[in-house]
Amino acid sequence: MRLLELRKTIIERNIGRQIRLFERKRDNIGKKIEEQIRLFERKRGIRLDDEVRFIRSWLERPLTIGAVTPSGKMLARAMARYVDPCSNGPVVELGPGTGPVTEALVQAGVAPSRLVLVEFNPAFCRILRARYPEATLVQGDAYSMRRLLETLLLQPAAAVVSGLPLVTKPIRMRLRLIRDAFDLMMPGAPFVQFTYSVASPVPRRLGGFSVEASERIWMNIPPARVWVYRKI
Ligand SMILES: C[S@@+](CC[C@H](N)C(=O)[O-])C[C@H]1O[C@@H](n2cnc3c(N)ncnc32)[C@H](O)[C@@H]1O
Repeated sequence: MRLLELRKTIIERNIGRQIRLFERKRDNIGKKIEEQIRLFERKRGIRLDDEVRFIRSWLERPLTIGAVTPSGKMLARAMARYVDPCSNGPVVELGPGTGPVTEALVQAGVAPSRLVLVEFNPAFCRILRARYPEATLVQGDAYSMRRLLETLLLQPAAAVVSGLPLVTKPIRMRLRLIRDAFDLMMPGAPFVQFTYSVASPVPRRLGGFSVEASERIWMNIPPARVWVYRKI
């Protein structure tokens, strides 16, 4: 038993060392990328703050962030196009990040005071709070949307727009998310989702909702498609 204990301690120590080594390497890569970006900024005389924050967050939690850079303008506009600015009720955005889709929604005529932004990355929340002081910002887990928004929304939502990296989650979680969203929205309201993958991020065969897809948006890194689901 004592021998086993000893072996276990040694293995644990080795694993710990490997993890620390990996973290150090990851931090160094992060610093190098940031240095390169700063150099690029100085040469071109521009600032890429959102991109830098995004890359840093991605390095820390790649699966949660799901993208290396914020969505481009074309993709953000394509998402916003599915939201009727003349509709009534709040417009919920899940995973707004640094806010490119939020910006497109506002430019398309959605009043910032109608926006309910659900984001759990504290650095992104700080940016959103400063840029959209009139919007309601909820710092929390979008997959707990029902609990977070049930009492907050005073009327059914006119749309739910999602930038969440859905495909990193099991199908049952994606389905629960979309069903919770339908319960918080008015009948026929759209659940708008973008994805880099080829297939629908919510399997069509599961039924109960209509599915619509945009053309592939090539002017985005990486190219993406917008999917829209409505409860039948
Ligand atoms: C692919 S990025 C999209 C960001 C932004 N909408 C865009 O288009 O650039 C995913 C965003 O979802 C956020 N996110 C991921 N999982 C989340 C969760 N469970 N709850 C809230 N936000 C989440 C991440 O922090 C990140 O801001």
